[in-house]
Amino acid sequence: MTAFSKIDLNNIPKHIAIIMDGNGRWAKKQNELRLFGHSMGVDSVKETIRAAQKIGVKYLTLYTFSTENWNRPKEEVDGLMKILVQSISNEVVEMSEKGVRLLSIGNEIELPDEAQAELASAMKKTENNTDINVVLALNYSSRWEINKAIKNIAKDVKENKLEIEKINDEIISSYLTTKNIPDPELLIRTSGEHRISNFLLWQIAYTELHFTEVLWPDFKDEDLYKAVLDFQSRERRFGMTTEQL
Ligand code: IPE
Ligand code: IPE
Ligand code: MG
Repeated sequence: MTAFSKIDLNNIPKHIAIIMDGNGRWAKKQNELRLFGHSMGVDSVKETIRAAQKIGVKYLTLYTFSTENWNRPKEEVDGLMKILVQSISNEVVEMSEKGVRLLSIGNEIELPDEAQAELASAMKKTENNTDINVVLALNYSSRWEINKAIKNIAKDVKENKLEIEKINDEIISSYLTTKNIPDPELLIRTSGEHRISNFLLWQIAYTELHFTEVLWPDFKDEDLYKAVLDFQSRERRFGMTTEQL
């Protein structure tokens, strides 16, 4: 029996976030360059978007490049940016046709001009699509985002646009780059690493975490469905007791 056939379609996470990890190790295992692993990872991205759409996921956030990833060798960073530009350009027509709306979170202005332009154009072309929102976390890190939010909150308080007493969870969320995006119910990390690596720290307060050994270029639709099944087996108590649910 496939994982897909066991999924309860009435209990699908509205938002799944993925830390797509393991491209480098996948390439190394086959004596290829790390960049080859990143290129092959793009196929997993396409398959995952299709798989998520098939079960009715509304938001899919993909950790694509962290603010810390600038610390990698220049050759790898340049190659990653090229792959990004190329992939968006190759896929934009299909995304438009298939109801995919592309969004991005992160500090885009630090990306190369070409990447910014390609991203902006794809987001514009897909802005009216409603089937699934694919959110690319690009030059993103949670501490960068929280730092920016705190500065903007402080500024609005100083300019009397915001009262300190009114600051609550919702207000804080509205100052993050993920404003208007619901918190993820499920976070997946591939490649066997058990850490968050500066991703969505505020937003995952009550998210279910699923870790898999699968390296990102090997990640297939069934791996997504297995993660969803794992999610469906969890009891989400939000601080309450089983009896209260
Ligand atoms: C994830 O794969 C892709 C990015 C971080 C851009 P890695 O490149 O981190 O692969 P490993 O962890 O070295 O195997
Ligand atoms: C996290 O993966 C960032 C992305 C997947 C884009 P990394 O491979 O950069 O994370 P660390 O360095 O192992 O924590
Ligand atoms: Mg990694």
